Amino acid sequence: MTNYKDLGLANTKEMFAKAFKGGYAIPAYNFNNLEQLQAIISACVETKSPVILQVSSGARKYANANLLRNMAKGAVEYAKELGCEIPIALHLDHGDTFELCKDCIDNGFSSVMIDGSHHSYEENIALTKKVVEYAHQFGVTVEGELGVLAGVEDDVVAEKSTYTKPEEVEDFVKRTGVDSLAISIGTSHGANKFTPAQCTRNADGILVPPPLQFQILEEIEKRIPGFPIVLHGSSSVPQDQVAIINANGGKMTDAIGIPEEQLRKAAKSAVCKINIDSDGRLAMTAAIRKVFVENPSEFDPRKYLGPARDSLKELYKHKNINVLGSANQA
Ligand code: G3H
Ligand code: 13P
Ligand code: ZN
Repeated sequence: MTNYKDLGLANTKEMFAKAFKGGYAIPAYNFNNLEQLQAIISACVETKSPVILQVSSGARKYANANLLRNMAKGAVEYAKELGCEIPIALHLDHGDTFELCKDCIDNGFSSVMIDGSHHSYEENIALTKKVVEYAHQFGVTVEGELGVLAGVEDDVVAEKSTYTKPEEVEDFVKRTGVDSLAISIGTSHGANKFTPAQCTRNADGILVPPPLQFQILEEIEKRIPGFPIVLHGSSSVPQDQVAIINANGGKMTDAIGIPEEQLRKAAKSAVCKINIDSDGRLAMTAAIRKVFVENPSEFDPRKYLGPARDSLKELYKHKNINVLGSANQA
């Protein structure tokens, strides 16, 4: 048994309380490997931002749970070495069973998500409550989810989103005891969040996706005042990165994300945590493809993973400063 405090990690309680008061959101960036972790930590230290390191069950399988835990411990020490002790949480992203959540809690995670959104309402409550009861004994915070996002979450595919029903949130929060709630208001996972047919064109001919359902968010805020809300599927899918990928042998069609202004607006509300994974994947892929095309004889992984890491770091700094507003809040 390793408690997160032994690794120097923080749970999300205080992070969210401060984010709520300050009108910003904590970045939740997914990682599976060394370069992503280096980029996240160095970007968050340089911008003095608290951060949530997210690990999906797929990431655990890919990278090994033991290694990931020790990487998170190393991340705490790395941040100190870089000169700023920022709050760092280690969070299970989209936990789907009690057993997986328990395993993470027992092995150094400071926060877990139990995603019961694909179950019936009552089953979601029962599963979430069970995780909360276990987690809270160890000071670990729990994120629940109500409503279904379109897109792929690990092995679960939802074709259409089902928006969160505001009339359910108060009962769900009370009966489960969760510390934060992920909601569905029009975001979705992956790099193809909308079809072009769902978008309109602005005066410059650029596709503009439908706006997030802010009226649902406001309704939710009224029913659970002061409660931290989480937005998944919040990548913006930067078109310059998509263009670099496609100019260097890639094939990404109709890649459309959530406009940054929409996320900025959300971050000023009860939304205290914003999940971003796909944008990091795009930035890494673009940088690596560019090196491979420009220098086909290169075979030292540091020569392509290094530029990928640099590009990721810039992306995260930009998010913290200009989108989430978490810079200078550590
Ligand atoms: O919401 C899902 C995250 O982007 C994690 O993706 O399950 O492929 O690691 P993954
Ligand atoms: P994106 O696919 O939009 O980056 O969302 C990531 C996410 O929600 C992780 O839980
Ligand atoms: Zn998600």
